[in-house]
Amino acid sequence: MEISLLDQINKEKLPNHVAIIMDGNGRWAKKNGKERTFGHRSALGAVRSSIETCRRLGIGYLTLYAFSTENWNRPKLEVNLLMTLLSSAIKDEIKELHKNGIRLNVIGDMEKLPKKANKDLSQAMDLTKDNTGCVLTLALSYGSKDELLSAIKSIAKKYKDGEISDEDFNEELVHQNLYTHDLPMVDLMIRTSGETRISNFLLWQIAYSELYFTDVLWPDFNEEEFYKAILNYQNRERRFGKISEQITN
Ligand code: IPE
Ligand code: IPE
Ligand code: MG
Repeated sequence: MEISLLDQINKEKLPNHVAIIMDGNGRWAKKNGKERTFGHRSALGAVRSSIETCRRLGIGYLTLYAFSTENWNRPKLEVNLLMTLLSSAIKDEIKELHKNGIRLNVIGDMEKLPKKANKDLSQAMDLTKDNTGCVLTLALSYGSKDELLSAIKSIAKKYKDGEISDEDFNEELVHQNLYTHDLPMVDLMIRTSGETRISNFLLWQIAYSELYFTDVLWPDFNEEEFYKAILNYQNRERRFGKISEQITN
């Protein structure tokens, strides 16, 4: 009898924080003879299924790269459609997310988002703030260089104002000043669509992540594909600079 992918997953060795670069919507649409925007509309199913996978397995943190600082440079029509889709997705999904105990979080420069999207997101975060299930973080108008720059500015200000002194400078201080200050480091980073780059996503937070790249285009990324990524992750030895014997003993 064939063992399903889900049954092969070791529940004791799950990644605690998974981050996904959801890429390939445009190419998926093109492949299906449609406009790029059709690809974005079709992406929601994959978002739902990845949240469901985390919930089913008990993965604590899922962070989804939905819109980068560089994505503002796309054609205006596409940017507008993405913002409209964002608002309607939040409205349509929030009840279900809340019912499932998911806490919504956003990283990125929210001020740059249209007022409506900003308001919908703030309400959704407020509604789910006491939930204790999976933490779903949406990276919106997010860029890692932008995040690091804003952390440097806020640390410099605290130093100037005398709130911190030389002894306080350590990795924890940097962490505390990032958008992700209440998230753990990323264990597994997934990118769909065959591109093997990071595209300005979570540079500090992936310092020791396992990276997984798949050719599957985002709208086709389903539960089975997520299980494959987790199984691949579980077959790696995370040494964190040590030698193999130190890990296995
Ligand atoms: C990812 O799909 C979604 C966003 C970046 C908003 P793309 O729109 O980048 O699709 P491709 O990479 O052009 O196929
Ligand atoms: C990265 O995808 C950003 C998101 C998935 C939101 P892009 O399609 O924008 O990245 P590049 O242009 O291929 O690097
Ligand atoms: Mg892309």
